[in-house]
Amino acid sequence: VEVIVVRDEDEAGEIYAGCVASLIRRKPDAVLGLATGSSPLAAYRHLAARVRAESIDVSQVRGFALDEYIGLPLDHPESYHSVIHRTVVEPLGLDPAKVHVPGDVLDGAPLSDGERVAKAGAAYDEAIAEAGGIDVQILGIGTDGHVGFNEPGSSLASGTRVKTLAQQTRIDNARFFDGDVDKVPTHCITQGIGTIMRARHLVLLAFGSGKAEAVAETVEGGVSAFCPASALQLHPHATIIVDEEAASRLR
Ligand code: F6R
Repeated sequence: VEVIVVRDEDEAGEIYAGCVASLIRRKPDAVLGLATGSSPLAAYRHLAARVRAESIDVSQVRGFALDEYIGLPLDHPESYHSVIHRTVVEPLGLDPAKVHVPGDVLDGAPLSDGERVAKAGAAYDEAIAEAGGIDVQILGIGTDGHVGFNEPGSSLASGTRVKTLAQQTRIDNARFFDGDVDKVPTHCITQGIGTIMRARHLVLLAFGSGKAEAVAETVEGGVSAFCPASALQLHPHATIIVDEEAASRLR
């Protein structure tokens, strides 16, 4: 794992934007792995600015998001479908038809629609494989070491599948649902650790002291399902970009 310590989110965003801009120049139909949450927002802003300033043609770029809630209609403002469109597709000017979110085929279908829900994960992994795999996967990390919605205990070989959200994650995400934890869906569909590990380059971003423990566990702890992000140690090209605070527990 390559660790880069930066001043702030903007410097991390510039590194990500530079990496993705040169990828798209080399490969105009590049496949981007996309995350929601706060950590990648500056990276998306910098990439969008660069695409505009350098008139980079992104019309062929494809995207696959990491995860989605189950039970929210696609047009719900907090569905990851909506969030990815608001924070990535629109600012970058991507073709919306080329950007996919795991819940797209569900569109609000409830968990009780077992057959539909059960098929969605495998179909998503197939779609990624058909696209030729993900070139650069951006990742955030939970304070408990989760990546995507792969909470501690998730199989390191897992594919895209339905998971129960940890209560702590629902509490953390209540801020997007009027602060009401009861409005946060109980289940999600997430790329598995095995899916994430098939991307050719992983770029994990972490900022602030709240992430310091998880970052140290990811980089210097043993590889273990108890810290799903620690699987990155086994990846041939993983880059972790952190600020001083998030790096503060590294030896
Ligand atoms: C987002 C995701 C999550 C977040 C993580 C960190 O699609 O899968 O793993 O990356 O919860 O969230 P932030 O960046 O908001 O601290």
